[in-house]
Amino acid sequence: MEYMSTAEIREKYLSYFEAKGCKRWPSSSLIPDDPSLLLTSAGMVQFKPYFLQQKQLEAPYVGTTTAQKCVRTNDIDIIGTTGRHLSFFEMLGNFSFGAYFKKEMCAWAYEFSTEVLGLPAERLYFTVYLDDDETIEIWKDLGVPEDHISRLGEEDNFWRAGPTGPCGPCSEIYYDQGEEFGCGSPDCAPGCDCDRFLEYWNLVFTQYDGQEDGSFVPLPKKNIDTGMGLERIAAIMQGVQSNYETDVLRSLVGVGERLTGAVYGADADADLSLRIMADHSRSVTFMIADGILPSNEGRGYVLRRLLRRAARHGRMLGISRPFLVELVETVIQSSESAYPELREHDAYIKKVIGTEEANFARTIDAGMNILNNMIDGLEKAHEHLLKGLDVFKLNDTFGFPLDLTKEIAAEQGIEIDEEGFHAEMTKQKERARAERLKKNISGWSEDLFGTLTAEPTEFVGYDTLKSDSVVVALSDEETLTDAIATDEQAKEGVLVVLDKTPFYAEMGGQAADHGVITGAECVLRVQDVKKTPKGYYVHTCTLESGIVHVGDHLTARVDKEYRMAIARNHTATHLLQAALREVLGDHVHQAGSYQDASITHFDFTHFSAVTPEELVRVQKIVNDKIFESMNVTVKEMPIEEAKKLGARALFGEKYGKVVRVVDIEGWSTEFCGGTHVKNTAQIGGFKIVSESSVAAGRRRHGPGLLRAGAPPRLR
Ligand code: ALA
Repeated sequence: MEYMSTAEIREKYLSYFEAKGCKRWPSSSLIPDDPSLLLTSAGMVQFKPYFLQQKQLEAPYVGTTTAQKCVRTNDIDIIGTTGRHLSFFEMLGNFSFGAYFKKEMCAWAYEFSTEVLGLPAERLYFTVYLDDDETIEIWKDLGVPEDHISRLGEEDNFWRAGPTGPCGPCSEIYYDQGEEFGCGSPDCAPGCDCDRFLEYWNLVFTQYDGQEDGSFVPLPKKNIDTGMGLERIAAIMQGVQSNYETDVLRSLVGVGERLTGAVYGADADADLSLRIMADHSRSVTFMIADGILPSNEGRGYVLRRLLRRAARHGRMLGISRPFLVELVETVIQSSESAYPELREHDAYIKKVIGTEEANFARTIDAGMNILNNMIDGLEKAHEHLLKGLDVFKLNDTFGFPLDLTKEIAAEQGIEIDEEGFHAEMTKQKERARAERLKKNISGWSEDLFGTLTAEPTEFVGYDTLKSDSVVVALSDEETLTDAIATDEQAKEGVLVVLDKTPFYAEMGGQAADHGVITGAECVLRVQDVKKTPKGYYVHTCTLESGIVHVGDHLTARVDKEYRMAIARNHTATHLLQAALREVLGDHVHQAGSYQDASITHFDFTHFSAVTPEELVRVQKIVNDKIFESMNVTVKEMPIEEAKKLGARALFGEKYGKVVRVVDIEGWSTEFCGGTHVKNTAQIGGFKIVSESSVAAGRRRHGPGLLRAGAPPRLR
C-alpha cells in the first residue's frame, strides 16, 4: 500500500462517498446543538434530528458524508500515555437515514479499505455484535475468512453517543499491525487493549432511540452511522507506529522538540510530555476557534484543563516562557485548508491562549510553593493523603485543576482525597446558588411548565405593543393552577402564560418588557418575562386586583416608554460595537452584553486596557452616528444572505436557517433578535461611564445613556 497524507485520505474518503450518492456536508461546531452533550464527540451528533426523522435529507442524496472535528475527554489522564488516544481527532463519517443499510455499507467499507486505501485483505479483522448473524454472513459473502470475524459484547459493539438518543449494534474493522505490536497473550485478538489490532472504522447500525428509562424504542427507519478515526488510518497508511508520528501530529511533536531540546523517542517521560503538548495544542486551538473560552465550568473548564496540562508539560521539559502560541501556529498551518475558521480567528485564538497561559504561569509558581509545602508536611507526618479541603483551596485560589494537583501529587507518591474535594466543590456551588436565588426575583423553576402541551407562545411584539390574548397556564411559582385571586392585598409572584404576547422576554442580553395585562375581572402588572426552553413566555406579575382564570381573554399592553428606553440602549450597543471595531480593530467580538432601561453593559474581547484617548474616540463616533440620524432597519432573511451582507454574528452562537438582521445604513449590520429604535437620533446621546477587565481578554464597557434632553446619567 502507498503512503497517503492525512489530507489525501480525507479527500479520498469524502469523494468516495460522494460518488456513492452522499452529500458532502461541513463539519459542525465543537459546541453541539444538543443540550445532552458538552462537546461534539462524533460525526453523528449533528445528524440526530435526521435519525429521528425530525428532518429529511433532500433528494437525490442517499446520505451524507463528513470530516467532523471531535473532542473526547472522558479520560484526559490517558491521553499521551498511548499512541492511539487523542483529545482532538477528526472522524470521517457517512450517514444514511433509512436509505442504504448493512449490505451496502459493509460492501463499501470493504471496497474502500482494500481498493481505495489498498490495505491488504489478510490484515483486516471484523467484529460484530453478539447475535448479529446477518452481518457475519455479509462479511463472509464479501470474501472475509471466518477466522477473521468475531463476536463482541455490548461494551465494544453496541454504540451510543450518550445515555439517550439514536444508537444500535455495530461492526468494527481492525487492522493487524503485526505480532510485534502485540501483548503476546494467547488470547490476543481484536478488542484486546494492546496495540496489535488497531480499530480504525466503526459501522453503527442505528436502529434504536435509547430512552431515559434504559429501554430502546425502534427508530422509524434503519440507519447507518459510521466513523473512521482519520489519525489512526493515517498512521496505518503512513506505516508509523502511532498517531503522533503521522504527518500532522509529528510536525507538532517537532515544534515541541525544537522548543525543549528533547528528542522524541529518547526518553519515555519526555515523550509523554511531547505527546501531550502536540495533542492538547490541537484541541485548544479548535475549541477556541469555535467560540469556547477558558472558564471554571462546562466546556470552558475542559479547555482550561487541556491548556494548563499542556503548559505544565512544557514547563516540565524546561520551557520557562509561554510557548503554546508557537504550537498553535503549526496547528493552524496543518489544518487550515480543511478548517478555514482557524486562520480566520488566528489572532484571536493566539491572544486567548497567550493570556490564559501567562495567567497560569503566574499562579502556578505561587500554587506550586503551597502544594510543595503541603506535600512536605504530609511526608514529615508519614501521611500519603492530601486533604479534600487543601485540594479545593489550590483549585479555588490558584486555579489548579483537580487533575493537575493529582498528577503532581502522584509524582511524589501522594494520593488526594477526591471525594473530600468534590464535597467542598458541592458546598461552594450551593453557596453560589443561594446567592443567585437571592438576586433572582422570579424564583420559579422551568420544569414547572414542562408538562404543558399547548402550542408555544406566539411573540407579536416586534409589530405591536398590544394584543388580545388567552391565558394558557397560571402558577403561584409552586404549582400550576386554574385560577388565582387577590386576598386583601395585591398578590405577587403570579405567573401567567399567554397564547400570544407583545412582551419581549429577557433574551440575548436584553431585559424583558414591563407593562400590564388587564381583563374584565383583573389587573396584572408585568415585572419580568422569561421564555422557557419549550417556548412558553412566562410573565411574572403582581395581581393588583380581581381574579384571573386559565382561559380568560385579556389585553396585554407593553409600557411604551420603558420599551423605548431599552431600545435606545440596545441600538446604542450596536453603534458601540461598530465604533470599537473601528478604533481598536477587527478582533473585537461581543462576549456578552446586557441592556435594560437605564444602562448597557458590553463585554468584548480585547487584550489590553482601552486608553482614555481611545474611549473618547469611541464615544465621539457613537455620538456622531446619533447626530447623523441614521435609519435602523430590521429584516428577516436566509442565513446565507445575511452572511453575504457581512452581518456580524455572535461568536459561537447557534442560528436557525432564517435570521433577523438589524442594519444601521450598512455601517453596522448584526444578527439580533432584540428591539430597536427606528432612527439613531432617537437615542439622544451617549456616554461611556466605565471600562474594566472582567476576565482574561474580556473587557466591560458600561456606557450610560444620555436620554435626549435629560441630564447625563453617571455611575
Ligand atoms: N458514531 C460512531 C463512533 O463514534 C461511528 O464510533
